[in-house]
Amino acid sequence: MSDKKFYITTPIYYVNDKLHIGHAYTTIMADVYARYYREILGKESVFFLTGADEHGLKIFQSAEKKGLQPQEFVDKAASEFKNVWSKLNISYDEFIRTTDPRHIKIVQDFLQQIYDKGLIYKATYKGIYCIGCEKYLSQEEIVGNVCPSHPNLSLVEQEEENYFLKLKELSSKVLSEINKGTYAILPEERRNEILGKIKQGIEDISISRVGIPWGVPVPWDDKHTVYVWVDALINYYSATQIYPGRKEFWPASVHLMAKDILWFHSVIWEGMLIAGNLSLPKNIFAHGFFTSNGQKMSKTLGNVIDPIDLVTEYGVDATRYLLVTAFQFGQDGDISLSRFKEKYNSDLANGIGNLVARVSKLAEKLTGNPTDFKKFSQKESLEKIEKYFTEFHPDDALRFVWSKINTLDKKIAEEKPWEEESIENLGKLLKTYIENLIEIGYLLKPFMPETSVKILEIFTQSKISKPEALFLRK
Ligand code: MSP
Repeated sequence: MSDKKFYITTPIYYVNDKLHIGHAYTTIMADVYARYYREILGKESVFFLTGADEHGLKIFQSAEKKGLQPQEFVDKAASEFKNVWSKLNISYDEFIRTTDPRHIKIVQDFLQQIYDKGLIYKATYKGIYCIGCEKYLSQEEIVGNVCPSHPNLSLVEQEEENYFLKLKELSSKVLSEINKGTYAILPEERRNEILGKIKQGIEDISISRVGIPWGVPVPWDDKHTVYVWVDALINYYSATQIYPGRKEFWPASVHLMAKDILWFHSVIWEGMLIAGNLSLPKNIFAHGFFTSNGQKMSKTLGNVIDPIDLVTEYGVDATRYLLVTAFQFGQDGDISLSRFKEKYNSDLANGIGNLVARVSKLAEKLTGNPTDFKKFSQKESLEKIEKYFTEFHPDDALRFVWSKINTLDKKIAEEKPWEEESIENLGKLLKTYIENLIEIGYLLKPFMPETSVKILEIFTQSKISKPEALFLRK
């Protein structure tokens, strides 16, 4: 990621479901990256894309259930998505929707070009389809007659004429690009899984369906619509073509997602790009999958955690903090609301909140600010944590900031500045504390943008005074 331009994407989420903390996690992580690289490379050198996946049978059926026209349904859902992202302070540059006519045109042109090259053919396909996953399942993926990810949906046996992409033929090129390191599949364990699966053999993939009332028509045969995953993956490319000034961002620096959809992103997508003669993304990073109180989040179990409830309870920056540090980036983990509360109190209310309150209260005794705060640089501070970003451990960067906070807390406890009677000596002690806090303020910017500004506002004044509590105890 030494490039001068940084392009990061999240998956475009299906509009038939409400966003939960799983989606919020991916999007916050992408936001942290985007905010970080805007400081390092400059705002104009970063492109952060998210969006909505709006086609396909399950979306059509969800609209019907609500008695809405599909377009009305997706319009409403997309605006709800934007509302959630704004509450989480997500600084996306563009929000792409697959029903955007400009995207549809690019999908059609892209496929037509591959068809003209002879890499797409028509054949009959028979298989078991899961509408929840929007894919055909292999026998191994079916457990006890159901799809383990969508146990309450019945599987459909389908036999129909489909158009197929010659993925089998393309797969040796995909494999050689992975081996050459043209793109990285991360973390390492995931890469090994993908390589293992490629070696087992790849089948051609169906890229169209018949009789789907809500989708992109196949340009050379309008009885068919483009398979939703093919339509959706192309968003990453079409966004660079649709929005002004974004062409030079192609290919993406990072496609971020959870491991559930890594195969689509690390093999099928690259096969499509090779077929279409487009350059390949640089990094595909799959983070882990969350459960909630030990179980998969599901409406039926009633354990879905709504990120907006967290924002209401703890505020936006605390929600971002709790999610980013919930577990190691890349690993699975279990979310529990009681652990969030404990962590909120220990790390935020008693941690950074208390530290800022103590130091600013003591600094009220001084006539001025003992630090040379104007000489500090946001960029220089943030460069110190760059390796965490290039090595895909942004969560460890935040843990590193917390280790600085803890060290400073200990130092203050040892030095007992509140016992200091001489104002001059107190000024000397506070100078170090405040310098540390200014650096902490800078380092927090990508993760907790509002808290960062608040800390800097307090400690870069010529006269410091104690503010309202940053995080109230719960
Ligand atoms: N529409 C497709 C993506 C197309 S991208 C070209 C899709 N949508 S989805 O709404 O199901 O989103 C899946 C993604 O949401 C995951 O890859 C992950 O980013 C996020 N998560 C959804 N549930 C999650 C967890 N329980 N845990 C962690 N992340 C999860 O697939």
